[in-house]
Formats: sequence, structure tokens, C-alpha cells
Amino acid sequence: MIENNGSQKVYVYKRYNRVWHWIQAIQIALLGITGFEIHGSFSLFGFERVTKIHDITAWSLIFMVAFTIFWYFTTGEWKHYVPSGEKASVHLRYYTLGMFKNEPHPGKNKELSRLNPLQRFTYLGFKLLIVPVMVTTGLLYMFYNDLPAFGINLSLEFVAILHTIGAFALLSFFLVHVYMTTTGQTVFTNIKAMITGYEEIEVVEPEPAAGD
Ligand code: HEM
Repeated sequence: MIENNGSQKVYVYKRYNRVWHWIQAIQIALLGITGFEIHGSFSLFGFERVTKIHDITAWSLIFMVAFTIFWYFTTGEWKHYVPSGEKASVHLRYYTLGMFKNEPHPGKNKELSRLNPLQRFTYLGFKLLIVPVMVTTGLLYMFYNDLPAFGINLSLEFVAILHTIGAFALLSFFLVHVYMTTTGQTVFTNIKAMITGYEEIEVVEPEPAAGD
């Protein structure tokens, strides 16, 4: 739909995508807050209660991740995350230089190419590296006493350190991610899109053909 101001509203985030995004954001924020209390960074809920909240939230996250993997593969949504041949360097240049010189964004969001190459790369890393590391080390932590029965002998310290390193990596991702969401047309453009599903993009006039 073309708006009066020359911009176009494009449906970029499906309903499940948006619901899943905000539930996951709450789960991860809660896991981060409770996790760092368990780590000893501050005291808010008290140890016994905080470990219970961390464990219950962790199970709810595992359930959501399993369901979302099912959703991605049954709807074909996974295609959005496959790194493509598009030039990631063009986007890297935009976010490190061009953006600060008010240059136009190198790629328009369209439903079929919702994520630019840099976003594909970081979200894929988040989904294939950080989340699996947190879930695996978290489960190892949870079932630590049962591991020898399965022939697994790890020191608790090793598991705790890996889980904590993952938590710091996740915290860094979170900060960069929130910053990047504010770099749209206005500070709230991208956040609004994740709530309503629609993104406003500028309509770029086609280049006149040679000889026109
Ligand atoms: C499904 C994923 C996760 C599982 C299964 C899990 C599980 C656990 C378990 C079992 C513990 C030990 C205390 C307890 O019994 O609760 C723990 C500690 C901790 N968790 Fe998680 N967790 C998960 C996700 C996360 C996430 C996403 C974060 C950060 C954003 C996080 C941060 C921490 C931290 C910082 C600690 C304290 C580590 C230490 O100092 O020993 N966890 N987690």
C-alpha cells in the first residue's frame, strides 16, 4: 500500500513471529536477571526462589524453542536465515560508516528478503550457537548429579564457566541487538514493526532506462 508521504507499508513480521519474539525476549531477560543473581552479582529474590524461577523459565524457553523450530520448518520461514550471496560487506559498511553520514540504507525490507545479510549472520549465530550453548550447558548444570550414570564426567566448575561465558555473550548480543533496532528511520520504527507487523519503507523510484 503506497502512503501519501511516498512511503510504502510492507508486512514483514507474521503474527507468530511477533508473539514468539516478545515471549522469548521476556524469557531471556528473566533468565539473565535470575542467572546473574545465582552467579552472585546481586541479591533480589533470594537463592532458593531465584533458582526455582530460573529453572521454570528455562523449561518454558526450551518448550518455546522446540515449538518454534517446528513452526519454522512447517511454514518455510527458516529461509529468511540462510546467508545469501548478497554482499554482507555493503551492509557492514552502512552500519559502521554510511548510517552516520545519512546515506540511504543499502537494502529495502521486503517480505521475502526480510533480513539483510548482516542480520541473517548474527541471528543465525544467535540461534545456532548462543542458544544451543545456553540450553546444553544449562541442562548439564540441571542434571549434573545424574551425568556419571550416562558415563559423562565433567567438573561442575567447567559447566558453570561455559554457561556464564554464554550468558555474557548473550548479554552482548542483547545490547547490540537493542541498539540496532533503534537505527531505523526513527528510533522506534523497527520496534513498532515488531509490534504491528508492518514496516514503512521509502519507495525508491526506478532508475530511468538508458535512452529515456
Ligand atoms: C534453557 C536454557 C537454560 C537452562 C536449562 C539453564 C539452567 C541453569 C541452571 C540449572 C543453573 C544453576 C542454578 C539453578 O539450578 O538454577 C543456571 C545458572 C545460571 N544461568 Fe542458566 N539456564 C538457561 C539459560 C540461561 C540464560 C539464557 C542465561 C543468561 C541470559 C543464563 C544465565 C545463567 C547464569 C549467569 C547462571 C549462574 C552461573 C554460575 O555462576 O554458576 N541461563 N542456569
